[in-house]
Amino acid sequence: MKNNSLIGPLSERWSPYSFSPEPVEPEKLISIFEAARRAPSSMNEQPWLFIFTDRSEPEVFGKYVDFLYDGNKAWAVYAPVLIVILARVNFLRNGKPNRHAFYDTGMAVANLLAQATAEGLYAHQMGGFYPERVKTGLGLDDSVEPVAMMALGYKGDGSGLSEELRDRDKVRRPRKNLSEFVFRGVPGIPAFGEDQK
Ligand SMILES: Cc1cc2nc3c(=O)[nH]c(=O)nc-3n(C[C@H](O)[C@H](O)[C@H](O)COP(=O)(O)O)c2cc1C
Repeated sequence: MKNNSLIGPLSERWSPYSFSPEPVEPEKLISIFEAARRAPSSMNEQPWLFIFTDRSEPEVFGKYVDFLYDGNKAWAVYAPVLIVILARVNFLRNGKPNRHAFYDTGMAVANLLAQATAEGLYAHQMGGFYPERVKTGLGLDDSVEPVAMMALGYKGDGSGLSEELRDRDKVRRPRKNLSEFVFRGVPGIPAFGEDQK
C-alpha cells in the first residue's frame, strides 16, 4: 500500500544553528516561495510578503543581520540567506483590519518549510529581531507588520559557532504529546487517551 503520510517528511525538519556558506540555488528559492504561494488564507487575501537577501550583496545582508537580536546574530550571520517575513494587516479590497493576517502568513511559512525540507534545505525562524528596525530599514509603512525573520541554507559543520551553539544542534527539540493539546468536547479531556506520542 502506498505510504502517503507526511509525518515522516515533516519530522525531518528542524531548526539548526549551523549553516553551510554554500549559496542556495535560485530554483530552490523559487520552489519554496511557490509552496508558500499555495497556502490558504482568509478571503484569499494572501497577506504574506517575503523579502530576502543573500551574501552576494554584503551591504544589504549586513543590514538584515542588524535587524536581529545579538543572540540570533551570533549564528544567523553565517547563513547564506536571510528572509524577512511580513504580513499586510489590512484587506486590500476594503482597507479593513485583517485579524487573520498573521495566521495566514504562518500557514504560508509552514508550506515553505515543508518544501525547504524536501529540497534538502534547513530553515531557522527568529522572533528575536527589532520590528522597528525592519520597518525603517526597508522603508515600510504601517500597512505591513514584520512577523518573523528566517535564516535559510544548507546544513553546515558549525565552523565559526560557539561550542554551546554547536552542542545545541546535536539534540532535537521535544514535542508535546497529543494528550496535552488535543481535547474532546471541553478543554482538558484528552481526545485520544493519555499515551499518544
Ligand atoms: C515564530 C518563531 C520565532 C522563533 N524565534 C527564534 C529565535 O529568535 N531564536 C532562535 O534561536 N530560534 C527561534 N525559533 C525557533 C524555535 O525555537 C524552534 O522552531 C522550536 O524550538 C522547535 O524546534 P525545531 O524547529 O528544531 O523543531 C523561533 C520559531 C518560531 C516559529
